[in-house]
Formats: sequence, structure tokens, C-alpha cells
Amino acid sequence: MSKNFENVDVSVEFGGVKLQSPFILSSGPLTYAAEGMIKAHKNGVGAVVTKTIRINRAINPVTHIGTMNADSLVNCEKWADSDPEVWFNREIPMAKKAGCVVIASVGHTLEEAEAIVAPAEAAGADFIELVSYTEIDMLPMLEATIARVKIPIICKLSSNYPAWKDPVECARKCIEIGKANNHKVMIAAIDSVGPVLAIDVYTQGPKVSSENGYAWLSGGAIRPISMKINYEIMKMDRNIISYGIGGVTKAEDALEYLMVGTTGVGICSIAIIKGIEYISKLIVDLKKKMSELGYSNIAELRGSAIDNLSKETSNEPTVGEQEKDVESDAKLQFTFKEEICIKCNKCVKICSYDARTLKFPEMRVDRDLCRNCGACSSVCPTRALTSVAVKKFTRTDDLQNYVAYFS
Ligand SMILES: Cc1cc2nc3c(=O)[nH]c(=O)nc-3n(C[C@H](O)[C@H](O)[C@H](O)COP(=O)(O)O)c2cc1C
Repeated sequence: MSKNFENVDVSVEFGGVKLQSPFILSSGPLTYAAEGMIKAHKNGVGAVVTKTIRINRAINPVTHIGTMNADSLVNCEKWADSDPEVWFNREIPMAKKAGCVVIASVGHTLEEAEAIVAPAEAAGADFIELVSYTEIDMLPMLEATIARVKIPIICKLSSNYPAWKDPVECARKCIEIGKANNHKVMIAAIDSVGPVLAIDVYTQGPKVSSENGYAWLSGGAIRPISMKINYEIMKMDRNIISYGIGGVTKAEDALEYLMVGTTGVGICSIAIIKGIEYISKLIVDLKKKMSELGYSNIAELRGSAIDNLSKETSNEPTVGEQEKDVESDAKLQFTFKEEICIKCNKCVKICSYDARTLKFPEMRVDRDLCRNCGACSSVCPTRALTSVAVKKFTRTDDLQNYVAYFS
């Protein structure tokens, strides 16, 4: 790793506004008021998204946030629990005065967009973020907002079927409406996922107090769902300015989003779980990881994974082709660096086929048993064991070429 990781530049240009880091504190309990937003800004977030402002303030059930594993949450928290005027007169101006880049989250209906977006802009918001429960509400809300404000508008999309049938197509339409009206429109994806159910085994009740205990899932558990949607949006049009939200828990997670082309990275649950100070650590970790990978700024890495994910370069059958008898056409070439192996044996334990053995310093894979699944290298915490898919081959060739394989 370069010793000069401090010189890595993690600032980003986001819809015409410079952010000190790509981390955007997404709408949630940490942005309940100016105090929370200012604390986040001081810990290095590039922008803060207000708790969603609606005409009538929320009265939340007791209880409304619960934990799910170490890095995920369930919640049935509603929108902002203070009136719009409080946001216009106190929270937004106070956060702006302290230097925050403020994104005013406005939901969830056309009527509310019509009432709230202009005073939010007048209060000093840098962006409006529209959020709706259903896909069909988003486009009229966007049109009404374009008619009322000059600042850029972010459309926050959800993956929750059936209310949201096709977030990628919705993103396309939002961008098209922006272009047709010559107004800067950006995308944020995704909202928390659900409804889901989690039971508290000590009370035999739900983890949060909603009808049937149904809740919204956020944090690490949802990252792959969001990643797929963000990838598809950015593959459709690399010029879209967006931030990807869902399950960012460490620097590598943020890099995943940036590498599929997002400009910013939303963060909510892990900052609730670990405290907002965790963002400062994430920023240092991001700089270190970028330095290790040879990047000095975010523009250099943005979108770098998109071409590698295209079907033409993949060895895997696409979803839907899996039932076909597709011959394995690549094998894994393993590399083992004994000097960084910590002998944790995770690579051995994870092998479903008992193909791998580690008699340190000798790392072995039995090619007769190995199915090239990649789990062993994927679980290695230090990257002592890595793998890369190489040249086309058939299983028959592999058996003929069988040798107890030293990596
Ligand atoms: C307790 C809680 C409250 C939330 N409230 C809002 C909200 O008011 N408006 C909104 O757009 N998103 C809200 N969200 C969703 C987050 O902004 C974010 O989209 C989601 O949690 C995924 O990010 P994460 O995995 O980093 O938590 C909330 C999430 C949580 C956990």
C-alpha cells in the first residue's frame, strides 16, 4: 500500500456540488434534525438527506427499530416527526449554516411534493430528493417539482414489488423527463427492502410494533439487491448521476457501488449501528483501499466494473439458462502467497467437496474433486489464496489433465 494514502482524494462532484466524500447520509433517524446532520458533516459525510418531510408529522409506534444480525436492521419508522415548517425555519437553515450539503427528502405524494418542494428550496436545500411508496407516484411528483424549483432533483427508487415493478425503467423515465425539461435529475437507489418479518425469540413477538410485525430491512443484508439495480441503471446510461444506497458497511462496499458507476454512496444502517463517528473511519479505510488498488481519486475508478460484468466476458450462464446443460468452460487458476496466509483454514472448511487441504506451507487442491466454485479463495481474509478463471476447458479435459494441483 502506498504510504501516501492521505493524499488520496475522495471528494466528488455531485450534480454540480462538490462533496467532501462520496458518503451521503441517507434519510433516516440520524437526520432527524439539524443536530444529527451537523454531526454527520463533521464526521466527513459529503451530504445529508433530511428525514422525509411530509405535510403531517409522523407519530411512530413504540418500538420501531430492531437489529437483524450484526450489520442489518428492521424498522417500521415512518417519516419526519416534526412539521414541515420546523424543517423550513430551523433544521435546513441551521444545517446549511454549519456547512452541510443538504438534500431535502420530500414524500410521498403529488400533493405533498406540490406543497413542500418550493419552501424547502427557499430554506436553502441544495437538492430535493423525492421518495414515494409506489412507482406510479414518482413521475407526477417529479414533474410537479420541476415546475416549482431550480435546484437538482434526486428521484429515490425502491425495489419493493409490486408497488415498484421496474426501478430501472423508472430511472430511465425520470432521466428522460429531466432532459425534456432541461432540469438536472439524478437517481438514488434503493430504499429499504420489504416488507419482511423478524421475530424476537425472547418475547415471541415481532421485533418492531407494526401490523403483523412487518418491517423494512436495511443494512448489509440488502447490498446485493441494490447493487444489481444500481449496475443496471448505470449500464443503461453511464452519464446518470446517482448515489447507490443499501448495505454499505465498510470501504470495499462503497467501492462496489462506485465501480458500477454511482457518483455517491448512501449510508444509513451501519451509521446507526456503529455510531456516526464510524464514517470518519470509513473515509480513512476508503483512502487506504484506494491507495492499495492504485487509485488516487474517485473519478479513476468510477464505473470500472461495468464492462467486466457484461455477458460476453462472463463464463457463467445467465439467469434463466441455468437449467440448460451448460458445459463448464473455464477453470480456476489459484495463486497462494504463504507469507500472508494466517492459517485460519477457512478455505478448507468452506469447500463443500473436500477438495482443499492446507498443510502449511503447502496449499493443495484436488482437481478431481474441485468444481471451480471459487468459495475457497472468496473466503480468504488476507487474499493469500486468490483465483482467476482461465481458458476454456471441459470437465473431461480437466479429468484427463488431473494432477494433485499445487497452487
Ligand atoms: C430506521 C430507518 C428509517 C428510515 N427512514 C427513511 C425515511 O424517512 N425516508 C427515506 O427515504 N428512507 C428512509 N430509510 C431508508 C434509508 O434511507 C436507506 O435507503 C436504507 O436504509 C438502505 O440503506 P442502508 O442499508 O445503508 O441502511 C430509513 C432507514 C432506516 C433504517
